[in-house]
Amino acid sequence: MTSASPRPSRSAAAFGGAAPVVVADAAELRAWRDALPPEERLGLVPTMGALHAGHAALIERARAECDRVAVSIFVNPAQFDEADDLAAYPRPLAADLERCAALGVDLVHVPDAADVYPAGFGTWVVPDAVGDVLEGACRPGHFRGVLTVVLKLLQRFRPHRAYFGEKDAQQAFLVRRMVRDLELAVEVVEVPTLREDDGLALSSRNVRLAPEDRVEALRLSRALAAAAAAFAAGERDPEALRAAMRAVFAEPGARARLEYAEVVGVADFLPASASTPLPWRALVAARVGAVRLIDNQALTEPS
Ligand code: PAF
Repeated sequence: MTSASPRPSRSAAAFGGAAPVVVADAAELRAWRDALPPEERLGLVPTMGALHAGHAALIERARAECDRVAVSIFVNPAQFDEADDLAAYPRPLAADLERCAALGVDLVHVPDAADVYPAGFGTWVVPDAVGDVLEGACRPGHFRGVLTVVLKLLQRFRPHRAYFGEKDAQQAFLVRRMVRDLELAVEVVEVPTLREDDGLALSSRNVRLAPEDRVEALRLSRALAAAAAAFAAGERDPEALRAAMRAVFAEPGARARLEYAEVVGVADFLPASASTPLPWRALVAARVGAVRLIDNQALTEPS
């Protein structure tokens, strides 16, 4: 672990690829944060590691908008409902730290579970019904774990801005609402999903796809494209849009197992009816081999 004092120069990190300060301990992190000059804006990118170009886009956006950029890397056990999924989650820490250095990150926080959830820990952030649909229905307790750890990270870092990917659209909605409801002094920034050339949304889980499953994984983006095409052609019945997505998973030979294909109103993130005000968002989750993937796409009136 290196020193907890802020590095003197933003540009040294941004252009020199200098190693970021790496801090496991919460007290050491607090000391680093307290020593930052008050006029400097801090951007936080919370992650579970296995950083890819999608995370790099979050970090680059933070780098462009803030004086200091911090990344947290913590595979949060409280948001996993399956022990196998938690165990299989990739943890390439050395490569992650190298990527952070190349991106000019100032500090990386790598707490362990006992630091985040010490003995006797017993207070959780529990969202209302929006936390129980879609990802919350498939992964009971998921958002209780997500919101609790995000709140703890926001408390530790006191960032001016926190950056989240649009790929986890329900998570971003719930974080934004927690920030509003609990009156937290942070701006939530959502960054668009990055995709491979063939449409597959970047995800830390993609590395676990078997080569023969890689093409099956494209059913998620193809389903969203089908919903978007129907919407663009004037379809305004959410059930028809859901059916268009389901049809992609029902094609002969399909092996990906659909968990949900849903259309929600972006204002409340609940399943849309024909009278739900636009814009809407189409969302899919599916298992491809042993890997669970999610993706989503905005459905908005052309301007
Ligand atoms: O999106 C993620 O990587 C995680 O859910 C987050 C926000 C870092 C909380 O563990």
